[in-house]
Amino acid sequence: MKKYFILLVISILTLSCHENKQSQQLEENSNTYLEESHSYAQPNNAVITHLDLDINVNFETHVISGTATYDIENSDSNQIILDSKYLEIENVTQNGEQTEFDLGDFDESLGQPLTVAIQEDTKQIAITYSTTAQTEALQWLTAQQTADKTHPFLFTQGQAILTRTWIPIQDSPQIRITYDATVKVPQELMAVMSAENPKEKNENGVYQFKMEQPIPAYLIALAVGNIEYKAISERTGVYAEKSMLNKVHEEFSDMEKMVVAAENLYGDYDWDQFDVIVLPPSFPFGGMENPRLTFATPTVIAGDKSLTSLVAHELAHSWSGNLVTNATWNDFWLNEGFTVYFEIRIMEALYGKDRANMLALIGRQDLEDELEALKESPNDTKLKLDLKGRNPDDGMNSIAYDKGYLFLRTLEEKEGRDNMDAFLKSYFKKNAFSTTNTEDFITYLNENLLDKNNITFNTEEWIYQPGVPENAAIIESDAFSNVEKTLQEFLKTNEIEVTKTENWTPQEWVHFVRNFPTDISVAQMQQLDDTFNLTDSTNSYITMVWYEQSILNGYHGNNVDTKIAEFLNTVGRRWYVTTLFSAFAKAERIEEAKEIYKTARGNYHSVTANTVDEMLGIE
Ligand code: BES
Ligand code: ZN
Repeated sequence: MKKYFILLVISILTLSCHENKQSQQLEENSNTYLEESHSYAQPNNAVITHLDLDINVNFETHVISGTATYDIENSDSNQIILDSKYLEIENVTQNGEQTEFDLGDFDESLGQPLTVAIQEDTKQIAITYSTTAQTEALQWLTAQQTADKTHPFLFTQGQAILTRTWIPIQDSPQIRITYDATVKVPQELMAVMSAENPKEKNENGVYQFKMEQPIPAYLIALAVGNIEYKAISERTGVYAEKSMLNKVHEEFSDMEKMVVAAENLYGDYDWDQFDVIVLPPSFPFGGMENPRLTFATPTVIAGDKSLTSLVAHELAHSWSGNLVTNATWNDFWLNEGFTVYFEIRIMEALYGKDRANMLALIGRQDLEDELEALKESPNDTKLKLDLKGRNPDDGMNSIAYDKGYLFLRTLEEKEGRDNMDAFLKSYFKKNAFSTTNTEDFITYLNENLLDKNNITFNTEEWIYQPGVPENAAIIESDAFSNVEKTLQEFLKTNEIEVTKTENWTPQEWVHFVRNFPTDISVAQMQQLDDTFNLTDSTNSYITMVWYEQSILNGYHGNNVDTKIAEFLNTVGRRWYVTTLFSAFAKAERIEEAKEIYKTARGNYHSVTANTVDEMLGIE
């Protein structure tokens, strides 16, 4: 009897202790959001959980207007703060009744805090608003700026902190929401979002969307144009304008295989559908990993699948970035470094080690270039950044990508691939639909990979110190060594055996061109151009690096100057554009650059225009 009594006491004690733990956990949870310098939101007080967006897209006035209705969780606060930039806020309600709101001081990169008065029992707020001409997320294109040249086009770009310029929202990567949307567009156009998509045009121009998995605000995306869908497999397919659709479909026909390879590596694809929309050429990025619907530049449609690592990259973000999201923009390398690693593993699975190592080596050279460019600001070459008081865009260079990649590749070589893969798979599973920061990652790495296998590794040096540590993996490619040999021979003899280059992939050409010495002569460039038609290459990556060399070395043959101007007037992909403008600056040909920019700027999305403005010293 006594024994039972004691047991009972013990179990009551453990029960209440357990309960205590639970309430402690709850308390911790309500305080789980980290300090964040790029959002005004105070999610520990009141946080949005679901968005119901009801908007009209007006192509005449270039305005999006409507109502954003949020479900919220309130921890006893009498206000909720959202981010807003360049928006007209018309009216706000809470639980269906008019309420007070205030737009605070304007900050150049963050915009304004939108503070809304709520009550303890407020479950919902609704904001009626419209965008303005200053909106940074949206690019409205004329028919002339599209592939078909028959209809206008609109797309959004949210990352890093631009979603607040088209929807008032808590714009922090730590805050995840589900969303529904009703979007009204002109009848002859079709709307698609980073959500479950209709796939077909309808007659009334009203489209319904649903995103059932919680995502951060920067992944909400919309595109509107005269586009069509073509499936590749049951769960993959492409959207493009009619004149591009078949080409795009061909180019990306390995998409289903990529998803399978990715799943084999790091676990199930959690977003049901994986589609890609190819946008007009002003799209400022190679790709953007909007969930279920990657946005992509047409410059990767080369006709030979040679630039499709971009699709592997954006697909990889379905795990690193979209499933497990960087908690703050200081942890951006967790998104991009992991994604480059994953991208190259997908490419290896589909096309073999040679192709993977070429990609890795191109990234290695990008990293060296970036280290050189940042030699006056070594702090920006750390993986973990401190971007407080700066625009997060400042941290978005190849350090996060290529140093991040090199860190993981070095770790892989030290640990062995099997251990690495098991570790990454468990990391994605543990943090699914959540965020993580650098410090949590290090703890997880120590516990689940390093300590477990009794391995010491200079993780802290890789993450918190500038530059590249000495133990970095050495990446080798026979193909690239041969390219280098061929280049050296040519420079010495002014002769090049065409048979040696016959089977070169675009990556080998890029490597060849990028490695011209600074004293290559104009005559040598002319000879190469006449032999290999580089100025007129149909591969945008090859032309980009060739144009760069032409600018740097004062080569003017085969009408290359006109081609460069044309390229800069149509392509708005920031990486390409800034490479060329910076070549003009290096070559002290800034006046020519400014002349081109006069007409080109109007074709660029704000993220590209802002970067070039800064480069060329334009207000
Ligand atoms: N998420 C990025 C694009 C991005 C980065 C947008 C920072 C806004 C701020 C995307 O996944 C990306 O990395 N794109 C690259 C693709 C490349 C590495 C294959 C690009 O645009 O060049
Ligand atoms: Zn990326």
